[in-house]
Amino acid sequence: MSEQIPHESAVLHVTGEAHYIDDLPASGNLLVGRVVYSPRAHARILSFDLSKAQRALGVEAVLSFKDIPGHNQMGPVVKDEPCLGEKEVTFVGQAMFLIAARTDAQCRAAEKLIDVKYKSLDSILTIEDAIRKNNLLGSPRSMSRGDAESAIAGSSHVIKGELRTGAAEHWYLESQAALCVPGEGTEITVYSSSQSPSETQTLVAEVLGIRKKDVVVEVRRMGGAFGGKETQANHTACWSALLCRATGKPVKIRLFRDDDMIMTGKRHRFLIRYEAGFDDDGKLQAVKLELNSDAGGATDLSFAIMERAMLHCDNAYYVPNMSVVARVWKTNLPSNTAFRGFGGPQGMAAIETIIDRIARHLHKDSLEIRRKNFYGLSDNNVTHYGQTVENNRLHMLYDRLVESSDYAMRRMSIQEFNRTNEFYKKGLALTPVKFGISFTTTHLNQAGALVHIYNDGTILVNHGGTEMGQGLHTKIQQIAAAELGVSVDRVRVNATNTSKVPNTSSTAASAATDLNGMAVKNAIEILKDRIAAAIALLFNEQDASVSTDKNDIVFENNVIVDGRHPERKIGFAEAMPQMILRQVSLSSTGYYRTPGIKWDKVKGWGKPFHYYAFGMAVSEVLVDVLTGSVKLLRTDILHDVGDSINPAIDIGQIEGGFIQGVGWVTTEEIKWDASGHLMTHSPDTYKIPTAQDIPLEFRVALLQGVPNPNVIRKSKAVAEPPLMLSLSTWLAIKDAISATANHDFEPEFSLPATNEVILLSIEQLKCLKKAGAMHQVSS
Ligand code: MTE
Ligand code: HPA
Ligand code: MOS
Repeated sequence: MSEQIPHESAVLHVTGEAHYIDDLPASGNLLVGRVVYSPRAHARILSFDLSKAQRALGVEAVLSFKDIPGHNQMGPVVKDEPCLGEKEVTFVGQAMFLIAARTDAQCRAAEKLIDVKYKSLDSILTIEDAIRKNNLLGSPRSMSRGDAESAIAGSSHVIKGELRTGAAEHWYLESQAALCVPGEGTEITVYSSSQSPSETQTLVAEVLGIRKKDVVVEVRRMGGAFGGKETQANHTACWSALLCRATGKPVKIRLFRDDDMIMTGKRHRFLIRYEAGFDDDGKLQAVKLELNSDAGGATDLSFAIMERAMLHCDNAYYVPNMSVVARVWKTNLPSNTAFRGFGGPQGMAAIETIIDRIARHLHKDSLEIRRKNFYGLSDNNVTHYGQTVENNRLHMLYDRLVESSDYAMRRMSIQEFNRTNEFYKKGLALTPVKFGISFTTTHLNQAGALVHIYNDGTILVNHGGTEMGQGLHTKIQQIAAAELGVSVDRVRVNATNTSKVPNTSSTAASAATDLNGMAVKNAIEILKDRIAAAIALLFNEQDASVSTDKNDIVFENNVIVDGRHPERKIGFAEAMPQMILRQVSLSSTGYYRTPGIKWDKVKGWGKPFHYYAFGMAVSEVLVDVLTGSVKLLRTDILHDVGDSINPAIDIGQIEGGFIQGVGWVTTEEIKWDASGHLMTHSPDTYKIPTAQDIPLEFRVALLQGVPNPNVIRKSKAVAEPPLMLSLSTWLAIKDAISATANHDFEPEFSLPATNEVILLSIEQLKCLKKAGAMHQVSS
């Protein structure tokens, strides 16, 4: 089954024929929408005058919050996000007014005619400032096992410190976009670039003050999303829906890149405080963590993201005594949101920093410390939230990767290189990932499907998941073809549409193939059962000398056959007209909910995940000590995707996820100025990885022979976990920095490790060396 077929839209992608929102055929009366946003981080709106803009050439509507027929709200969980600013604006980039005109130039001209009077208010732009002013969102949350406090007090060694992790921009290629087309009465069709069509439908209905039966949301594909369109695609859809309702004409909004970067949320910044106790061997006794995140201006998914951080701050390691306290802070910045890993990367950065420091403290290779603290196969295998780590692949991955990456030899040659080179230093690090698969908001773990078979034997599959480049539709196509025993070219996966499959969960948490694949399988089982019964009857009518039972019927190689009497067969395509003649329904819905998960949010205890995905990476870097620039020399990744449905797609996801993580841990630095304006709002000031930044040697392999029971076709989710393997490059950089002072001192370090961070860290080590400080690593 595992077949390396190309992405179902690969040809369309490269020829430019694939439709994104901006490519949809436009009707003659299409209007362009523009969002006018706040230039202030925090201000009271004293007055505004839209009349001049309303009279401007080509302008068909200029709207404020007063023109919203329904609720002025688009918060996905907590209703704390106005669709258009009312009395107050709380971040630079917050939507205030909407303009629709014949052309974008007319919109821009009209925008200049809007007059707003503000009174600036104090703003909070950092987590530190939010903590100082106690600007807490919700209440603190904690999770613990054992007694970390006294275990630390009784430990032979204790380390303590702070870590900052940075924000990051999603940089999907297609910016936020939506096209709304009015129908009869209150009907509206929304073509959206959204990971969550059902949620988009909900919010459009609420903002327009209509009911969901009158709103259809369709998503053909997104030009990338990465979590950035889990909730925040809803906004653009709501804005264009308002303009569509006001004008009675189709309206399209596509945010300009800079506007998109200014207006939308990023990965949550974290400020982490940690304390850890361990023994002489480097075995962890206790970890105490304080996680602080920057939510930005509204709740969005911040609590779920923080929860996932809390559930991943153990990563691959057994911590007998653990205490995690988490606080989500509100600032005057765009509301931060889902981003591949969903808090997991931030939680893992904390524990990986601790492990790295323990190694330096004990003058050991961090590899040894990692190995020692891995969850055990049969003991020490329960997480700090009570879930047993089953089918633990850490040890298998470790043994194979250490060998295949030639770790020991390379460690020696790096030591030699560093001994003989003053201005270049090399670093090496291995990091694991263990990532929980399931939405931690348990009820979201469900999916629906609607499968039609046409009388020419072709199949149209609808399901609740959305395609954002990750290959979901390709895998679903393969699953449907395999279940029906037909070739893949007979199956088409339809655009995701809320009128086909209702009430769907976001395509997120890496689980879309698991969930929707099972729902599609369920629908197909229903169809196969009906078809098998009719075909058995047909065979028995044709020749009564043998009797075929519906349970004997097998679907394979485009043929429907009696498995016990293989001479009794009929082509799949030939059989379908027979089904119509025999009045058999060739359409079925399917449904799936993940079994066996149980999560008590209040107690922080249970089994939130259906299973874990595992992976491991070894990265080697070269740091230029004089400039702080970094070259990734080699990365070896071994990843567990169970029985891969499509190895080509899985490897693509691993490579892409890893490199996206490399951006987060190295060059992607988000900066706001003192008045809350984003300084890094275009590709000339914000550096994402390019083809030049991939490791010179990049060896990605899938762990073989490890089927994943109870998951569609024994596969495993792939999407998010590989991102966190980029921590190997981050710690390899730290290893190289540390080499400039012979690993005698603990370097100051944060994430991302930009050239600046690297140079400052090296300078600080120089000072420590000069001051002749004794082994600072012990503090
Ligand atoms: N891959 C591509 N090419 N584009 C994307 O936007 N999003 C990632 C990941 N891989 C993304 C991607 C994120 S954040 C998630 S949660 C998953 O895809 C979602 O899809 P899946 O559940 O089908 O893996
Ligand atoms: N991952 C991604 N999106 C989510 C989750 C999650 O665990 N929970 C709610 N939305
Ligand atoms: Mo992915 S962050 O769960 O959309």
